[in-house]
Amino acid sequence: MSWGKRKKPIIAIDGPAGVGKSTVGVWVAKRLGFLFINTGEMYRALAWKALQEGVSPQDHQALAQLSERLRWDFVPREGVLKTALDGQVLDQVLASEEVSLASSLVAAAPGVRRHMRKLQRAIGESGGMVMEGRDIATNVFPDADFKFYLDASLDTRALRRHLQLHQRGIEMDLDQVRGSILLRDRQDSERQINPLRRSPQAIVVDSTRRTLPEVVDEVLRHVQRRAGLGFAAYGFLLFLVRFLARLIYRLEVTGLENLPRSGGVLIACNHVSLLDPPVVAAAIASIRRPHFLAKREIFSWPLLGRLWRHFGAIPLNRTAADLRAVREALQLLKGGGCLVIFPEGTRGRGSRRKHPRGGVGFLAGKSGACVVPTRVINTDRCFRFRRLEVRLGRPTYFEGRDYHGFAARIMGEVEALA
Ligand code: DC
Repeated sequence: MSWGKRKKPIIAIDGPAGVGKSTVGVWVAKRLGFLFINTGEMYRALAWKALQEGVSPQDHQALAQLSERLRWDFVPREGVLKTALDGQVLDQVLASEEVSLASSLVAAAPGVRRHMRKLQRAIGESGGMVMEGRDIATNVFPDADFKFYLDASLDTRALRRHLQLHQRGIEMDLDQVRGSILLRDRQDSERQINPLRRSPQAIVVDSTRRTLPEVVDEVLRHVQRRAGLGFAAYGFLLFLVRFLARLIYRLEVTGLENLPRSGGVLIACNHVSLLDPPVVAAAIASIRRPHFLAKREIFSWPLLGRLWRHFGAIPLNRTAADLRAVREALQLLKGGGCLVIFPEGTRGRGSRRKHPRGGVGFLAGKSGACVVPTRVINTDRCFRFRRLEVRLGRPTYFEGRDYHGFAARIMGEVEALA
């Protein structure tokens, strides 16, 4: 399957308590440059609020009213959407055992579930999302592009949850943890409305005897296999460009240590030749799989046009303010992805510097991503077989709203690498 020009997919991960859905989901999302949300947090947040306000976790009507009355926001933090109630991000308080048990009761209220589903659909509407919970594939996104059901033995889950609680400073007896998981499993799968069920189309991944990184790899393998030719072709092409650039043009890459191995990175590069994107991609491919902003026209080329998406390209309409492209680029950076941008827009000749557009400054300031100034050398002289060089400068972060100022500073640093 290819998601070509379609919106990015939704990956649904369901499964019982303590199976590692969040750990796996966050990693899968990061590797794909998607956002992640743990919908259990929403039920936990409501349960916490109900306990605070003295609303019984069994009073379905009062809970539904409470969930409608609250302001729900979802705040991105390093690619993870955190639940905020009335402007407050709740974190540690949601981990307690009291909230865990109450959340499972709260989740049985039909009015609450209807409201949560509405919120969750709005969150995932634009795609590029890994969403985990109990009913994502069966109820929230029954048309999700990828559906996974994570499972593990009760003992394994109890051990994992015990460790997780310990790491959060909550000490509980292992038997108590096992009992609590068992009780929640029963409540979650026996409730009348949207119980925990495996969707018939879901791929079951059992993590009992495997480490979570192994599970992440398996999930990604399924996604990539179905994404088809594009992923494989991109990997092969990067290898080929790197091989040829080294062999024929003695490609030299300096400053690779300046490129963070994880987290959002914006690579701002000068632009002198059509070869710049593949050469930069090949130069950094051993560390990061880059994405690009590319002019929309190339997506209608025969054959290749369908593959650009898989080569990490985001279509950009250069004749108007393209909010969709900007949103996608921001989502990618906030999700911990790596984006290469040529701030001058079109190609400039040789050393002649063109004025940067404000876009690079906006993306840098708005995403909070790390900016790595980069310079390609001699890609415009490939017919003379000059040595190709890619130089990566020191990483910088930009805070605030002086987007044009940021853009000028970034280009100054790219210039300084000449
Ligand atoms: O995944 P978790 O343990 O944080 O979830 C807390 C509770 O929320 C869980 O016991 C069941 C409920 N839940 C649900 O009913 N549907 C979801 N999509 C996610 C969680």
